This record gives sequence, structure tokens and C-alpha cells, in this order.
Amino acid sequence: MGYDIRTYGDPVLAAVADEVENIDGKLVRLSQAMLQAMYKAPGLGLAAPQIGVQKQIFVYDIDGEPITLINPRIVESSGEWVYDEGCLSIPGLYVEMLRPKQVLLEALDINGNDIRVEADELLARLFQHELDHLNGVLMFDRMTDDQRKQALIEYRKLADGELPRGEKRHIGLK
Ligand code: NI
Repeated sequence: MGYDIRTYGDPVLAAVADEVENIDGKLVRLSQAMLQAMYKAPGLGLAAPQIGVQKQIFVYDIDGEPITLINPRIVESSGEWVYDEGCLSIPGLYVEMLRPKQVLLEALDINGNDIRVEADELLARLFQHELDHLNGVLMFDRMTDDQRKQALIEYRKLADGELPRGEKRHIGLK
């Protein structure tokens, strides 16, 4: 049994997730189910609201190691970096976005240990993107007005099946 990934328009994606209070067997099973859904998609990262669970937890794997982070906070950020961002909840759409290049993230790991991660470029972008999910923020909320107009038109076509399955649309930063 697996979870379906919720897509744009589902209200759970616009809600603020609750802080995790207990790291127990149930949470470990949730993290395993999230990783399974992420690999199946496939994607690099997945936040709990994307499978309909309003808890502050996300998983990712960018170099072959599955990692779970709980109650994450970005405590420092610096620089600027443009990257073509995608989201499993907005399938097919890739949007060029400017965000800080480096972040320092604090969180708990799945064993309840405090961890700090200094991230740059792709990892820093993934952290910022997944944290947005925990705050009910989607890429549409981060786009410029012009990008959002264009993105909504293209996404509607993708979602309505007017474009071939697996088709991708890129929206540049102007
Ligand atoms: Ni996403």
C-alpha cells in the first residue's frame, strides 16, 4: 500500500504543518512511506503534506542516502542562486527561481538527535523548497506575476492531459 502524492489545488498543500512532538514507531513508518512515495515518483525530496499528512517532516535523497528531517528551521541564509525548480505536486512544470544560495538548517533526525546542516546550491534549494511545503507555500507563491500567469496556463494544460504524458514545461525568470 502506498500514498498518492497530492497535487496543486489540494487544500492540504496550502496548510501549515504541525510540529512533531513524538518521534516514535509511527513516525518512523511515516518516513518510510514518504521515502517510498518519493522514490516511486521519482523525486529528490518529499514533504509530509504532499501525502496528506500535516506534520513538519520531509525526506530527501540527492546522493544515494535517504535522509529524514523533522521540525526543520532555516537559521541563516546567504547569497543568490537561480535554479530551475520542480515539484512532485506540480508535475511537469519547471520554474526558474532566485533564492538564497546557502542555508544553515537545524532539525531533528529520525533518532531525535539535533542536527545542523550547511547546505549550498542544490541541497540548499531542496531545503528551502521542502520547508515551504511545511508552511503551506508552493512554487506558485514564489513566482513573479508574469511567471505565475504563464505557469497556470501551462499547468492547466498538463493537468487536463492536453499535452502528452510526461511532457515538461519550463518557465524562465524574466
Ligand atoms: Ni515540492
